[in-house]
Amino acid sequence: MNKDIRVLISEDDIKKRVDALAAEILAHYEGRPITAIVALRGAVFFAADLLRKLTTEVEMDFVKVSFYGDGTTPTHMNPKPIDFQIPIEGQDVLLIDDIIDTGVTIGYLIDEIKAKNPRSFKICVLLNKDARRTVNIRADYIGFDVPNEFVIGYGLDVAQKYRNLPYIGVIDGLK
Ligand code: IMP
Ligand code: MG
Repeated sequence: MNKDIRVLISEDDIKKRVDALAAEILAHYEGRPITAIVALRGAVFFAADLLRKLTTEVEMDFVKVSFYGDGTTPTHMNPKPIDFQIPIEGQDVLLIDDIIDTGVTIGYLIDEIKAKNPRSFKICVLLNKDARRTVNIRADYIGFDVPNEFVIGYGLDVAQKYRNLPYIGVIDGLK
């Protein structure tokens, strides 16, 4: 099934980087509780691994913003307002997402979270793809920078497939 997939970032490299990110995040918050907002569905594996390395109090909520249909091109239709299930106001909020590509998706999430007046707000993404950015956003914590290729695995999909791959790969020919 995986014969056309080229490995870009191995399972082992992901694990090491997640551990390093967790250490960086822990050092920053100095034991304060963290309110983690996890973007569905792409960030689930990343967040599950990262949050289990945070030896501090963590509250977690999931949010879903979808601009992509089944293809690799965003549709950028207006998403619905987010109904957070845990308190945001006055909390130290850490937004966890899979990838910043154009920046439109995370830009929307940032606006929604900031409107709830958190005490502090930071962004952690597994992947950063600078090549197609249209919104000027940079995450505070970045797992890996990736080239302008459509990547899959470790949460990322194409048409909902390949999310469960333990590594990050590229299917040549997809953009
Ligand atoms: P943006 O709004 O263009 O920044 O797109 C962000 C969202 O698009 C991510 O949360 C992913 O769901 C999806 N996405 C962007 N690039 C890729 C990719 O290379 N592989 C898989 N999903 C991607
Ligand atoms: Mg996503």
